[in-house]
Amino acid sequence: MPQLVIEGQKRLMGSCKVQGSKNSALPILAASVLCGDVSIIHNCPDLSDVRTAVNILRSLGCSVEFAGGTLLCDSSDMACSSIPDSLMRKMRGSIIFLGALLARTGSANLCLPGGCEIGPRPIDLHLKALEALGAQINDDHGVFRCTAPFGLHGAKIALSFPSVGATENVMICACLAEGTTVLTNAAREPEICDLADYLNGCGAQISGAGDGTIVIEGVSRLHGTQHSVIPDRIAAATLLSSCAAAGGKVTLTDVIPSHLGAVLSIFEECGCFVDIRGGTITLDAPNRIYAPKIVRTMPYPGFPTDAQAPVMGMAAKSRGTTLFIENIFENRYLHVGALLRMGANIKVEGRVSVLQGVEMLHGADVCALDLRGAAALVTAALGAEGRTTLRGLKYLDRGYEDIEASLQSLGADVKRI
Ligand code: EPZ
Repeated sequence: MPQLVIEGQKRLMGSCKVQGSKNSALPILAASVLCGDVSIIHNCPDLSDVRTAVNILRSLGCSVEFAGGTLLCDSSDMACSSIPDSLMRKMRGSIIFLGALLARTGSANLCLPGGCEIGPRPIDLHLKALEALGAQINDDHGVFRCTAPFGLHGAKIALSFPSVGATENVMICACLAEGTTVLTNAAREPEICDLADYLNGCGAQISGAGDGTIVIEGVSRLHGTQHSVIPDRIAAATLLSSCAAAGGKVTLTDVIPSHLGAVLSIFEECGCFVDIRGGTITLDAPNRIYAPKIVRTMPYPGFPTDAQAPVMGMAAKSRGTTLFIENIFENRYLHVGALLRMGANIKVEGRVSVLQGVEMLHGADVCALDLRGAAALVTAALGAEGRTTLRGLKYLDRGYEDIEASLQSLGADVKRI
């Protein structure tokens, strides 16, 4: 079983490019079935969730080539509207194929998606919204048979929570529906804007992405396009947390600083100096940071739930106390047990955890239980004294493209064995 061996306490120095965004690439790949044509996606990160999306596309009859960060998907011969259960269960993002298949073929057969066990993660908002667009959905104990016997039509849809995935499913499905769809309380994450940019590049008519109310004028067909995926703000937050944990000075390139507003203010509060120039962020971190007072996860533009874990790993040996409040997922402190083994002082009660920074963490044998929890153990290990052996790399590899190479380029002592 592969492991990461991390010798901590090496200051990080230098510069590093940020990978393309996983959570942008996945819905864009699902949407690429709509055009029945060739989409060329640049800056596509090579990680296991993207490989799963590629396998889903191939299982549907699309031809896909992926090399050197560029993915070409030709969906002209796509013939199928069923996704094998084994692929659906590999990741949560597979649910976005539901809206895409309905729009392209008028039907979709798939089961409940899998993914990290960070909460119950229902799909009720997706199903309700797609029904409003004309889908008829038969749920046979988690196996969904969906049709649109009277076609798809525009609708007024108000989400009760700004779900990222439900917003993406509506945008994708509605762009080939007849008439206008108005989606209110939509998610405002940068990944939503990136999906709208890709779809508009294919000829869709989507406005308001990023503003909370998205208007989609249905069109009769789309065409292929080229698109470059935005930089991954969570991978950027993880690298910055690594630097703040280990101490040092790191410049991230190929990043969009405005996507990291709520995250960067936490680093400043910790006593780090943040310098933004164009598409770069430089973080200058002391050997031991101050604890941020409160980390409260919220939908964008609030502090992202995906950065909570790496920031907790970083804060574990800070000076002071941090209150974490996880408002998005019910079970997103899966990394705390392993952090305690490394000497952290953290108490969890439901969605709240209280972290008292310790003077020093020590390396330990630990196992990741979810993607961002794995990132928390990496950031903690980089700041810890001695050697940490991290197992459960299948989680890390779902969302990070060769993270050890990025960290090695900054001077970290990290090896995969
Ligand atoms: C996306 O998940 C991301 N995944 C997640 O990243 C991210 O944490 C999350 O958005 C929030 O930013 C992808 O983009 C592939 P949601 P998604 O629908 O779409 C509840 C990572 O680590 N909800 O906004 O699944 C839900 O249970 C991953 O990269 C319903 O109740 O998130 C959760 O509590 C993890 N019913 C909240 O809404 C629904 O039908 C937010 O979920 C849908 C969601």
